[in-house]
Amino acid sequence: MAPFRIRSLPRIDAEITVPGDKSISHRAVMFAAMSNGPCVLRGFLPSADCLCTVEAMRALGTRIEQHDATTLTVYGTKGQFVAPNAPIDCGNSGTTMRLLTGILAAQPFESRLIGDPSLSRRPMKRVILPLNEMGAKITAEGANDSPPLVIQGGALQPISYELPIASAQVKSAILLAGMQTRGKTTVIEPAQSRDHTERMLEYFLVRTIADRAKGEAGSRRQGPGSITIHGVQIPESRDFDIPGDISSAAFWLVAAAANPESSLLVHQIGLNETRTGLLGVLLRMGASVHESVQNFDQVERIGSVRVEGAKLRGVTIEGDEIPNVIDELPILAVAGALAEGVTRIKDARELRVKETDRIAAIANNLRAMGVDVIEYPDGMEIQGGGKLRGAKLPSYGDHRIAMAFSIAGLFASGETIIEDTDCVDTSYPGFAEHLRRIQEGKRERLKLDALVSEVVE
Ligand code: S3P
Repeated sequence: MAPFRIRSLPRIDAEITVPGDKSISHRAVMFAAMSNGPCVLRGFLPSADCLCTVEAMRALGTRIEQHDATTLTVYGTKGQFVAPNAPIDCGNSGTTMRLLTGILAAQPFESRLIGDPSLSRRPMKRVILPLNEMGAKITAEGANDSPPLVIQGGALQPISYELPIASAQVKSAILLAGMQTRGKTTVIEPAQSRDHTERMLEYFLVRTIADRAKGEAGSRRQGPGSITIHGVQIPESRDFDIPGDISSAAFWLVAAAANPESSLLVHQIGLNETRTGLLGVLLRMGASVHESVQNFDQVERIGSVRVEGAKLRGVTIEGDEIPNVIDELPILAVAGALAEGVTRIKDARELRVKETDRIAAIANNLRAMGVDVIEYPDGMEIQGGGKLRGAKLPSYGDHRIAMAFSIAGLFASGETIIEDTDCVDTSYPGFAEHLRRIQEGKRERLKLDALVSEVVE
């Protein structure tokens, strides 16, 4: 894809829908493939990452049909997969590799998982340790327990495992292995990570027991907790609607929040409380944010969010809030640069091992735009309120860095060029077109629909 060229934009006045949720799309395909019959998935995100999950499940013998860009029928295999006849390529997708490892740990054959250069540098010990403790034989062939992974699966023992860090991917990998293992498997997490897997288990009628301490009074945040799954269970096949991805909407929500003249309405996005931390941060920064939940009866809360912009103020983002905003920290750092005063991000060491070292990438790009940033091992301090300078910026091959700095470019003097932009297809196909349309700066309210044209077959 050509580099993005961005110029300063006076204001945004738009209504938008964004493509399907990435985390939920991966899980929907995997759960449907493990179920006992056909499942129709609507609102699927046909991005590079989620297509890796589709191809992976096909390589394991699952029939998957595509009716249009976002609708799939997945024919469940009752959890009985066939050995793949080649290594499974997980591309750039940590979720594909880590969750699949949990599924394959309990399958009676050997498989090999590979990834692109970025995924091949990411830590896998976090899934290998608990799954090997359950009796799988998983080895990492790369340096420091990085991919490729060779998985010799088989009958496992249940465990009770305390996660050293809150991670939805590791929690999900253990639960997927536990679902195929006789006995009760428990995962204890130090702070709540996204709970899509737990919700989906319930929806697909898989028995679990959740035990979670309540968060502080008046706070949406939840404290530490545990989830127990009973094996052996087969998910009951059901159809599933996937909401728009709040992590994709986040770029436009911040773009609107940081301009007192701007107004944005996002329709049909997931409002799961383990994912909406961004909205709380924007409120603390001074933006006006209104959520409206349109359904309570589905697996996931779905609704709309309206943001009216303001002159933002700097805030601190830390502690148990971090897992809830982990994917939004690049765009929140940009919000920090646009806000008056200092914004601090702490307890976010995990950002160092995402698609790239996001702390270094954010700090480098903000500095290139003239912002003072102090980098720490687990976060950064951003001196906001200065004028951003347009610059030529690398994406570091990371979709969220590319999109976050496209938004920074909308507030910078001169031209901002984002290089190496193919990576945005990882989570937000159609972003380039939305960026182009928003930059046209129409006088009337702009209406943008999610554009997803990719064909799965
Ligand atoms: C994800 C969990 C998060 C997140 C990632 C998607 C998921 O990672 O950063 O983009 O779908 O479970 P961790 O579980 O490693 O924190």
